[in-house]
Amino acid sequence: MTHQLKLFFEDDHEAVISCGPDEDVISAALRQGLILMSECREGVCSTCKCFLADGEYSELLPHSVYALSPSEQEEGYVLACRLRPTSDMEIEFDYPFSMVQQYQETERRGSLDQIEMVSDTVARVVVRTMAAQDPLRFLPGQFVRIALTNGVSRDFSMANLPDDSRRLEFFIRVYPDGEFSSYIAGEASHGEQVTLYGPRGKFILRDNDRTPVFIAGGTGLAPVLAMLRQLAAERPAQPAVLIFGNTNVGDVFGADELKVVTEQLPNLHVVSGVVNPDDSWTGEVGTATEIAHKYISENDRSQFEYYYCGPPKMISATTQMLEAASVARDLCHHEDFVPSRMEETNG
Ligand SMILES: Cc1cc2nc3c(=O)[nH]c(=O)nc-3n(C[C@H](O)[C@H](O)[C@H](O)COP(=O)(O)OP(=O)(O)OC[C@H]3O[C@@H](n4cnc5c(N)ncnc54)[C@H](O)[C@@H]3O)c2cc1C
Ligand code: FES
Repeated sequence: MTHQLKLFFEDDHEAVISCGPDEDVISAALRQGLILMSECREGVCSTCKCFLADGEYSELLPHSVYALSPSEQEEGYVLACRLRPTSDMEIEFDYPFSMVQQYQETERRGSLDQIEMVSDTVARVVVRTMAAQDPLRFLPGQFVRIALTNGVSRDFSMANLPDDSRRLEFFIRVYPDGEFSSYIAGEASHGEQVTLYGPRGKFILRDNDRTPVFIAGGTGLAPVLAMLRQLAAERPAQPAVLIFGNTNVGDVFGADELKVVTEQLPNLHVVSGVVNPDDSWTGEVGTATEIAHKYISENDRSQFEYYYCGPPKMISATTQMLEAASVARDLCHHEDFVPSRMEETNG
């Protein structure tokens, strides 16, 4: 039986689609020319997470607990790519309808232009896309899937702003057994070909007067840096806070980039912390989540809006911390660097 779905967007725009018996919501919308935000369409990335305001389903298709935790599901959140309705529905999406129209994924050929280690565990990689194609247009905070010629592909967030230079800057955490990252840090050579798919993602700055509080865990700084650069270019007087957490002192990177951004965005307050300090460390001690908790407990947070990004454990800890601090969900935006090699699944 076909059901009618009413879709509500952040800017009060509404759309109505039909959904067939064996169809998920993303596929149904696509069939009707509506490109809802989605990435993996396998229940892994959480990009399609939305709120089911009304309607029934028997169970979600298999998905990762990182993409949707059981407690989120209990509260009414669902993954549109894993949702097969058994009744008419009303579904709320936390992005404006304009994002639906802008999202047009493209494929770009490029080459590795620069690869340099910028800390013990992080590589800065610059990809230059081909002159024969238009430069990639994207919103600061979005990411692309990078495919190597050996067939391995992973998602990485751009740290630069879109421009005509055809250069895309990435900060990549190097795992010793990481298929993609250890290849990039160890074997890849200058000029090597890559293919980029995107732009993807909805981790973008909201256009309002609130003070953004960015919480970045490790290379979670990459999309945050893009948003800080956007603020510096568009709203240089904007107050903002960056809480940047790393595990070890040797992991810390981005000092030069943050120095430039801080000069251009003088009301940016940066708090940097590590879990394992050494004698040289003068910053905070603790995880990004712990430092953020301390910061928001000690400051007037009535105007704060939160943007956080990093590995799954940091994302779930920060979500729990903000929930415990009674921060409204619509003031929390995050990008979860879910590893591609998934071990934990649910459903
Ligand atoms: C939307 C999105 C954006 C992303 N953007 C970035 C980015 O800008 N920079 C960046 O560095 N990464 C980013 N990632 C993560 C990236 O896509 C890869 O998953 C990551 O680099 C590991 O890939 P790999 O091939 O090197 O390791 P894999 O071969 O996939 O894994 C190697 C080993 O490392 C472990 N591992 C992988 N990731 C983690 C982790 N986060 N925490 C603990 N253990 C882990 C795996 O379990 C495995 O044992 C992003 C992910 C997503 C979904
Ligand atoms: S698109 Fe639904 S979880 Fe990735």
